[in-house]
Amino acid sequence: MFARRTQWPTAVNELTRRVRERRERGEPILDLTESNPTRCAFEYPRDVILTPFLSSENLRYEPLPQGMRSAREAIARYYVERGARVDPDRLVLTASTSEAYTFLFRLLADPGDRVLVPRPSYPLFGFLADLNDVELDAYRLAYDGRWRIDVESVRAALGPRTRAVVLVNPNNPTGSFVKRSEWEQILACCAKQGVVVISDEVFLDYAYAEDAERVGTLLREEGVDVLTFVLGGVSKLLGLPQMKLAWIGVTGPEAMVREALLRLEIIGDTYLSVSTPIARALPQWMRVREGLRGQILGRVRANREYLRQSVERLSGCRYLDAEGGWYAILHLSDVRDDEAFAIELLEHEGVLVHPGYFFDFEGEGCFVLSLLPPPEVFQEGIRRILRRVETR
Ligand SMILES: Cc1ncc(COP(=O)(O)O)c(C=O)c1O
Repeated sequence: MFARRTQWPTAVNELTRRVRERRERGEPILDLTESNPTRCAFEYPRDVILTPFLSSENLRYEPLPQGMRSAREAIARYYVERGARVDPDRLVLTASTSEAYTFLFRLLADPGDRVLVPRPSYPLFGFLADLNDVELDAYRLAYDGRWRIDVESVRAALGPRTRAVVLVNPNNPTGSFVKRSEWEQILACCAKQGVVVISDEVFLDYAYAEDAERVGTLLREEGVDVLTFVLGGVSKLLGLPQMKLAWIGVTGPEAMVREALLRLEIIGDTYLSVSTPIARALPQWMRVREGLRGQILGRVRANREYLRQSVERLSGCRYLDAEGGWYAILHLSDVRDDEAFAIELLEHEGVLVHPGYFFDFEGEGCFVLSLLPPPEVFQEGIRRILRRVETR
């Protein structure tokens, strides 16, 4: 009765089952997987966010395949601050970055075509690929004190059916930015093979420090001969995942950009998925961007610093250095089974972390922690994790 593409394993894994049981028993959990900023005690400016909804303009509906112009102009102004001159006509609004991926996979790939994604990376790619009848190939991110793209693995994975290379800048969960030299090499491969670049920049504004080696938003690059799609959205930029607004910026050779936009317009017109009140509110929300981002970045930096200092004194326990984003990776050299240790932490210490396999890490021993929880939760969680490590 059902399509093969939705034949996913539905059995609940052991860790999730234990979390449910614990919650049912009313036992507390220090949740270091919490990545929903609206549950992490940030102060949202209520009036600025909610007042725009009361405008009577919201009672009028004008279906626009690329999305409301005032919203696209606000996004273009944001890119000006990041050094990119972006024509609002080259932006397409979507309800989320995940939806943007779907639009692009539909635009670029026939069933069975292939897309390259980083490994490790966040787990949604598998589902997005399945839903769009696309096959994934992985290229490697390697850690040697710093995360790097293994460009050779990009070259090796490119094949005749590859349609796109996804760069996640910075990547989730490694927090590594794409460096200019990596991008230039990847670009050369893509140009040679006629493959497009999709640059997921949802965490771009969450760098812990500056680094001149990094490439910025790819919308800033001019004269590039590879069709490039840049993704951004309010879920990370403003910490408002519930508002459901994201965008695709298109750049590259003129004729290809025009053709891509015409086709994206038809995809957009088919769904018209962006809500009018949300798109209308965006210009006002953008005015409080710095305040929201500042709070989140401040939290993430402070939690990261606490983690770094705490693990320094322990042998067999490493923080894998990241450059930005909302996550931290802890490597425990004695752990042979990620899931078993995550369960041990939950049952004995009441702390929840993501086992690395969730993000497709090579080998065991990696755990992903969200840096968003309030400091008292995060610090207590870390103390308990380290206590557990010491008792092993
Ligand atoms: C790198 C990356 N891109 C995209 C998304 C999805 O964002 P959205 O909420 O806009 O769908 C996530 C979600 O965590 C993410 O980590």
